[in-house]
Amino acid sequence: MGQNQIMTRVLSVTSECAPLVKTGGLADVAGALPGALAEHGVEMRTLLPGYRQVMAQLSGIKTVHKLSLFGGTAEVKSANAAGLDLLILDAPHLFDRPGNIYLGPDGKDWPDNPERFAALSQVAAKIGTGALPDWTPDVIHAHDWQAALIPEYLPKAGRPSVVLTIHNIAFHGLADVEKMKVLGLEKARFTRDGFEFWGKISALKAGLMGADKLTTVSPTYAGELMTEHFGMGLDGVMRHRRADLSGILNGIDEDVWNPATDPLIAHYKTAAGKSKNKKALRREFGLPDADGPLCVVVSRLTGQKGLDLLLDCLPNLLAQGGQLVLLGSGDPHLEDGFRRAAEDPNVAVTIGYDEALSHRLIAGGDAILIPSRFEPCGLTQLYGLQYGTIPLVALTGGLADTVINASPAALATGVATGVQFHPISHDSLNSALDRLCSLYKDRKTWAQLQKNALKQPVGWGPSAAAYAALYKDVTPPA
Ligand code: ADP
Ligand code: GLC
Repeated sequence: MGQNQIMTRVLSVTSECAPLVKTGGLADVAGALPGALAEHGVEMRTLLPGYRQVMAQLSGIKTVHKLSLFGGTAEVKSANAAGLDLLILDAPHLFDRPGNIYLGPDGKDWPDNPERFAALSQVAAKIGTGALPDWTPDVIHAHDWQAALIPEYLPKAGRPSVVLTIHNIAFHGLADVEKMKVLGLEKARFTRDGFEFWGKISALKAGLMGADKLTTVSPTYAGELMTEHFGMGLDGVMRHRRADLSGILNGIDEDVWNPATDPLIAHYKTAAGKSKNKKALRREFGLPDADGPLCVVVSRLTGQKGLDLLLDCLPNLLAQGGQLVLLGSGDPHLEDGFRRAAEDPNVAVTIGYDEALSHRLIAGGDAILIPSRFEPCGLTQLYGLQYGTIPLVALTGGLADTVINASPAALATGVATGVQFHPISHDSLNSALDRLCSLYKDRKTWAQLQKNALKQPVGWGPSAAAYAALYKDVTPPA
């Protein structure tokens, strides 16, 4: 950065942020963006709810603003942690709770989720209009429905621009219409052109209609969002906003995910170095030696991820000498299904969430399986590429944009990095598993695939530049 370059001030507003609190890829992205953007002239601060587990990790925090929110007192606190410049919304009546950040002990959404995340959006809007004594953003970057009400809470004039990123259009942030008053929303905006969605309040739709620019996390998903199949009822809105929508591919945090430096694995720079990790993984899970690929899965277990298809196709993988190690949690039916599958000596399953184990799986596996029905970007295929662990993926969203299918042409030209399948069905996953196993048995071709994967760039470089350009584009003139 040249000394005279004017920095763009951006407030990133997110419901999760690695390494402080994470349930999925949004946390990885929110945690990595500020660092990636710093070299592009962006000064990013991150507004995050003060969940119990977040507060427990912070020290040296300073109150910078006090207010009353939804029947309780709240404070905005500034803190630095893990290289992040944080603004924490400390509102104990909304966020000081045990367990999952979105779900109560009954496994259902906390009933006051509309208020909890409206509070986050209200505070973002206040910061956007000068609530902090020494820092006001030029742009607010809102992530997903939890931050999508921000445009509703901003004044029409004298406001920063809003960029909304859609990480997953499946989550709308719906609330009953009776909540309109308590959420401080304008009745006149409860229309098809506002935040009304089939008689309910949709936080996501508010943002889709009200943000200055929309982005999503891969170019292919940007196109898919405008179709009935993927738009989840909002495809019309996406088509309406198409001129303001762009797809910017996620990158990975190469300080955290790098096989040459990762403290959680035996380091390696070439694929030959994977064998130590593979042996250790087999040992850890008591798996025998085998002729086929050692496949891994690290995933939420939900319909999105298509792992029910994998359960059906598992016998085919095992029949070809393949093995599976899965780490995941979510839908109880899928958890049970995989627990039962683990009765086979060539299958190992850990139900739960375990960051360190996820690194051991990705380093030790030969292949990583991601048969998603839809996938806005997906990060685990990128981790796979970075670790020379060949991704087998459905041809959708970011999986389509980041993996080069081992077609005869791609193999011949030396660019193939994985296996893709389409349509997303039982039969086509089975034939993809067949292809994976035969590629694996051809040692020379497999080694070439690993080499190609290891050299495919998966960092933030071009995408950080694209975000920086977008922020600049929407920054109101001084
Ligand atoms: P999504 O956000 O839809 O869950 P992504 O692939 O974008 O999918 O990101 C998932 C992130 O969560 C990755 O960093 C992945 O490693 C991590 N993850 C998912 N499930 C687990 C788990 N059970 N244990 C540890 N990490 C997990
Ligand atoms: C969502 C999507 C995933 C994406 C992540 C980060 O959780 O499901 O595909 O990688 O957000 O953008």
